[in-house]
Amino acid sequence: MLTNKRFSPVGQSAFDARFEAQKIAFGPVVFQCVRLAWKHGMLDALSDAGDTGRSIDELAGTGRWTAYVLKVVLESCLSAGVVSRVGGRYVLDKAGYCVLSDAVTQTNFDFMHDVCYLGLHQLDEALRTGKPAGLATLGPWPTLYEGMADLPEPARTSWFAFDHLYSDTSFPSILPDVFATAPKRLMDIGANTGKFSLAALSADPAVELHLVDLPRQLAVARDNVGAAGHGRRAHYHPTDLLDPHAALPQGMDVVWMSQFLSCFSEAAIATILQRAAGALAPGGQVLVLDTLWDTQRYDIAAYCLINTSPYFTAMASGNSKVYERDDYVRLAEEAGLRLVTSRDGIGYCHTLLRFAKVAP
Ligand SMILES: C[S@@+](CC[C@H](N)C(=O)[O-])C[C@H]1O[C@@H](n2cnc3c(N)ncnc32)[C@H](O)[C@@H]1O
Repeated sequence: MLTNKRFSPVGQSAFDARFEAQKIAFGPVVFQCVRLAWKHGMLDALSDAGDTGRSIDELAGTGRWTAYVLKVVLESCLSAGVVSRVGGRYVLDKAGYCVLSDAVTQTNFDFMHDVCYLGLHQLDEALRTGKPAGLATLGPWPTLYEGMADLPEPARTSWFAFDHLYSDTSFPSILPDVFATAPKRLMDIGANTGKFSLAALSADPAVELHLVDLPRQLAVARDNVGAAGHGRRAHYHPTDLLDPHAALPQGMDVVWMSQFLSCFSEAAIATILQRAAGALAPGGQVLVLDTLWDTQRYDIAAYCLINTSPYFTAMASGNSKVYERDDYVRLAEEAGLRLVTSRDGIGYCHTLLRFAKVAP
């Protein structure tokens, strides 16, 4: 489990610590320069040149960039270990290779730039008011979820790539968990584009799916499920779960929530879990698949998840975050549920929590 000690190297000198502090202060500058070096093809050009590298004159000689642009951008990349300079020639370094070739890194870059970057300037106001004050940079909605079907490009593509990067890698491997109790009626809360529902409908020819989401998003899921020919066993329940009086359909063998509870405040999660528990048939279970920062094996995953929380604050809802396992367990227990199993290490960074109703 991640501890502060693992993030803060023991024995770091005051000099090193001061340098680390400058990296944080100039982080947005480095982010923009590295992103430009990637998007404008400079990193590609260095990759093609291999260990020989390329001089500024050679790169400028291609006519793609001026020497000034190359110097500003590549010197920042040099300071960040993205490129190195050997005898006046720039060479792609290991971090640059990751930016150029690693899908997770690229998805995180696009999400940060296209969805979060401008709005994070309003983080202060968002934390103060509990409203996603940065969302106005994307559109006029009270929460990002209400605008999801209308997100402008490139934010739309980058948001879905970020969301699906995590869920897509987990959905195939969790289907045996979902069908372990042979559910006949399965509810997918926060069905989004219908990806999980489609996987479940394809995996079991008898299961009935009940999809729950905000009306506009549910229409997208309905189109996708219908287009795949599974419409007959799918039932749609447009619902705003922030309304504590909004009821859920009853008699479910499994209630499934993937990357859903992290969209809400603790107070809202409490009422959602109460309603999820109330929707269960006798012997039914609530399955929660989510990204929990304290269950990560590697610090790199915990780092990414912890730093996704400010997106939830500034852009998504103003009051949600990436939680720890005990937060969900505590709120579930308050809703009359008990933890049956907890499985970590699913996909990139998911944990699956299985809850059953406490006997009355
Ligand atoms: C982060 S996405 C997760 C989607 C999907 N379950 C997955 O794992 O990829 C959260 C989903 O919750 C839905 N949602 C957000 N707020 C909601 C609300 N108040 N009522 C119902 N659904 C909501 C969003 O529309 C979105 O589809």
